Amino acid sequence: MPNKNGKWIEPFLGTGVVAFNMGFKNALLNDTNPHIIKLYQEIQDGAITPQIIKCYLEKEGETLKSSADNGYSHYKLIRSRFNNSPNSLDFIFLSRAGFNGIMRFNKKGEWNIPFCKKPNRFAQAYITKITNQAANVSNVIKPGWEFTNRQFSAIIPLANKGDIIYCDPPYYGRHSDFYNGWAEEDEYLLFNQLKETEADFILSTWHHNDYRKNEMISKYWDRFNIITRNHFYHSGGKIENRRSVVEALVCNFNIDERVAKHT
Ligand SMILES: C[S@@+](CC[C@H](N)C(=O)[O-])C[C@H]1O[C@@H](n2cnc3c(N)ncnc32)[C@H](O)[C@@H]1O
Repeated sequence: MPNKNGKWIEPFLGTGVVAFNMGFKNALLNDTNPHIIKLYQEIQDGAITPQIIKCYLEKEGETLKSSADNGYSHYKLIRSRFNNSPNSLDFIFLSRAGFNGIMRFNKKGEWNIPFCKKPNRFAQAYITKITNQAANVSNVIKPGWEFTNRQFSAIIPLANKGDIIYCDPPYYGRHSDFYNGWAEEDEYLLFNQLKETEADFILSTWHHNDYRKNEMISKYWDRFNIITRNHFYHSGGKIENRRSVVEALVCNFNIDERVAKHT
């Protein structure tokens, strides 16, 4: 993104992978999932360091290895500890020990992913990888970055001219969970807020797949610039489930022109 003088505003942060790779000095990063936000706030203020994460994962990984039911009994213990009193280290553990690294919460907001039965989820090489990721992120996050835990609708009005709002909301018509529901009212509200903003915005969504179109595109988004990109999407482990999906970036400015101007 050529203009990095404004603020990078990301109302649907998720893992944070986009913001962490943008190189902005100022950022406002938000998600309705409080566990994601708390983890990054604690990395930012030093309450959690790569060293703490390493020691914690080594200790819990060892206990998991020797616990009953091939580790399942220890997984259940950490899951109930987290559900009774959420903390960022158990959150990292669960996303590592849960099936396929998926994150999902039930109607009560509790962790709701089955145990990943693969051995060696906490092998030293993986722990080193996670520790290094935490170290990288702690270097990337600037002191002035703000992490918030609000609805997207409270964030978009905070943007000013010169800022960039990057939205990667849940997909309409796809699965949802406690922190991650998405209905047409949400899409409509997002559209109304983005069409009013003085900031630049980018929205990332799916455009169509082999079977259907994303009807939200023609209803709301195709008055803006749209860049599409083809890719494959695996649903489940089987190769037959490989589908072609076209993703869309919707912007209120022309990315090609903007990039050309700066290169
Ligand atoms: C598609 S994910 C974002 C993925 C992210 N771009 C990444 O690369 O990891 C959507 C995120 O929006 C959050 N979310 C869902 N509904 C929201 C809402 N109403 N306001 C703010 N965040 C919301 C979810 O918790 C989820 O983390």
